[in-house]
Amino acid sequence: MASPQFHQLQVAAVRPLTTDSVAISFALPNELVAQFQFKPGQYLTLRATVNGQDVRRSYSICSHHKHRLEVGIKRVDHGLFSTYAQGLSIGSTVQVMVPQGNFTATVGRNNKYLLLAVGSGITPCLSIIKSVLADEPDSHITLAYGNRTASTIMFRADINDLKDKHTERFNVMHILSAERQEAACFNGRLNGEKIQLLQQLGLLDVHSCDAIYLCGPQTMIEEARAVLAGLGVSGGCVRSELFTSTGAPQASKPVQTQQTDKLPQGGSDVTIVLDGAERAVQVDSSKETVLTAARRAGFDLPFSCAGGMCATCRCKVIEGETSMDLNFSLADWEIEAGYTLACQTRPGSDKVTLDFDAI
Ligand code: FES
Repeated sequence: MASPQFHQLQVAAVRPLTTDSVAISFALPNELVAQFQFKPGQYLTLRATVNGQDVRRSYSICSHHKHRLEVGIKRVDHGLFSTYAQGLSIGSTVQVMVPQGNFTATVGRNNKYLLLAVGSGITPCLSIIKSVLADEPDSHITLAYGNRTASTIMFRADINDLKDKHTERFNVMHILSAERQEAACFNGRLNGEKIQLLQQLGLLDVHSCDAIYLCGPQTMIEEARAVLAGLGVSGGCVRSELFTSTGAPQASKPVQTQQTDKLPQGGSDVTIVLDGAERAVQVDSSKETVLTAARRAGFDLPFSCAGGMCATCRCKVIEGETSMDLNFSLADWEIEAGYTLACQTRPGSDKVTLDFDAI
């Protein structure tokens, strides 16, 4: 399978969402429509040179038409790419990688869905919500969405439109941390305590859900997972995607790691298989990850966040031992099957082979 490629796309529309966020639509020429087909919940990686730096960021696809894909971008303080993106206008061109990501829904069955989102974590959820409401006429969705104030709610008009159109099947709760609402249970942060309270009040029914999606900061995801496990919800129906407010990796403890007992002295010979070609690079595990070493050697590996969150750099360990510093995106089964994140991978044996073409 060919590695994901960047394509130069033109901005077709810019839609302000809040004072600090915009939705940007990219036009898809006929010849790229097939390559940019996506599953609800997937994201696009955008790439640009900003202040002389090669910057990449991933943004979830929140809306689409045959010849357009839209992403939502929230500006963050000192955020290189998000600030640059606020200045894009119709006709600007941006390098855009074909859709990626495993935080997806298989739309087509009749289900009860619960989505818990905070801030810009709404973007993949919105794509899932739209697809389910359009393609599963008997499915029901509950969305609990946390923000600071009503004015910072991204896609508020889109959410309201969907709610008006699907009153019987789409239930929305806005949880606001810095603005008082009449119903006290909707005030505060969307965290473990709040989820427990909403469940006790009967506003959520986690036991009846076929699928639960969590999308937001790490603390919210960890707390939600703990509360859901405490309520007896099977981990198998819970999916999560980490969203930071900064778009940068969080300094935090690893969620999951593979372990090796020893690091090879003097570096490892790492062979990288990409698009059917093999290239070799020396990686000193004590100093750098495979991605860092490969970039230093001039290899153009697929990556975006460089923080273990997006899985754009996912590849398979074909030979040797490796460990990961951080992993916020690979599921247990992927790790058991030998997949790793190149941006977090350090060799643990003298020879390692990583295959980016492995599906
Ligand atoms: S580049 Fe995002 S997980 Fe490695």
